[in-house]
Amino acid sequence: MLDAAPPQIVVVGSANVDMVVQVRDLPRPGETVLARSYHDFPGGKGANQAMAAARLGRAVSFVGRTGADDGADLVRGALAAEGVDVSELRSIEGEATGRAIVLVDADAENSIVVVAGANAALVAEHVHAAENAITQARVVVAQLEVPVDVVRAAAELTRGLFVLNPAPARRLDDELMALVDVLVVNEGEFEVLAGQSVTPDPAALPSIVRAAALPAAVVVTLGGEGALVCLGDEVTAVPAPAVDVVDTTGAGDTFVGALADALARDEPLVDAVQWAVCAASLSTGALGATTGMPRRHQVESLLAAQPTQASSQASTQASNQAPSPAPIPREAPMS
Ligand code: RIB
Repeated sequence: MLDAAPPQIVVVGSANVDMVVQVRDLPRPGETVLARSYHDFPGGKGANQAMAAARLGRAVSFVGRTGADDGADLVRGALAAEGVDVSELRSIEGEATGRAIVLVDADAENSIVVVAGANAALVAEHVHAAENAITQARVVVAQLEVPVDVVRAAAELTRGLFVLNPAPARRLDDELMALVDVLVVNEGEFEVLAGQSVTPDPAALPSIVRAAALPAAVVVTLGGEGALVCLGDEVTAVPAPAVDVVDTTGAGDTFVGALADALARDEPLVDAVQWAVCAASLSTGALGATTGMPRRHQVESLLAAQPTQASSQASTQASNQAPSPAPIPREAPMS
């Protein structure tokens, strides 16, 4: 059972130790390369997203599983240090904490291999143990580094907004997709779920989303290009600010955490995506998934320096109807 005071955000997902190796060039098949540096960092898409939202000031609870090992201490300690409630991040004897082997090259490109370990031992019953927190949260977030049944259990319990970041990508059934309020995907994930690539014509995006039975609110992250927001028949392009990039690992997780932060504050979806784009951009300035995650004042400063929304957005309506005033279909509970 989680704390009596309800969290604003619950993240259900993976916790890893990231074994981060800097190299000049990523090795080709059969090639051996020498590392420039090696570090262990806290990671895992779930833990990263929880950390990002907490660093921006939200009350966050994390539901996950680790082994009973040093890796668990690293991840749990990092989350707790940011104020994340880790009472439902439990250790399982006989399992190893998840690991990710992260190679980062001189151009800040990365390759990642995840060894699931204890993340694969997270089951629906563990999610049900956090029912009070999940039902009272304004936003619940999940990814796919844990079993799909776990994600389904979290979605079914959610009374606020359910945000799904289907990474690593896989096809999901329509019943689960119907429970998703906001889907956050990169271009590769969009292609897996929609069956076709993100169109260069924004006006075509809503019909692709509908044909694939994706949720009414889909956010496509475009790396250094920013993001596209597809909300019903309206598509809005949100550009990213130019920043110096050291490591893009975890930028997508920072995006999701910051989006959850803004949605928990009842920001409209496009404003929330602008906030998330700025947070994700800032996060790329340091090595490690969580090292560069910004604090609230840093995002506010970067956002204030951006062109106004009206001048910076390429907004398209595929129909002549006015957009729905309700930003996202399901209502968030009152806290
Ligand atoms: O999204 C980045 C994360 O993916 C890393 O922290 C790694 O642990 C993998 O889960």
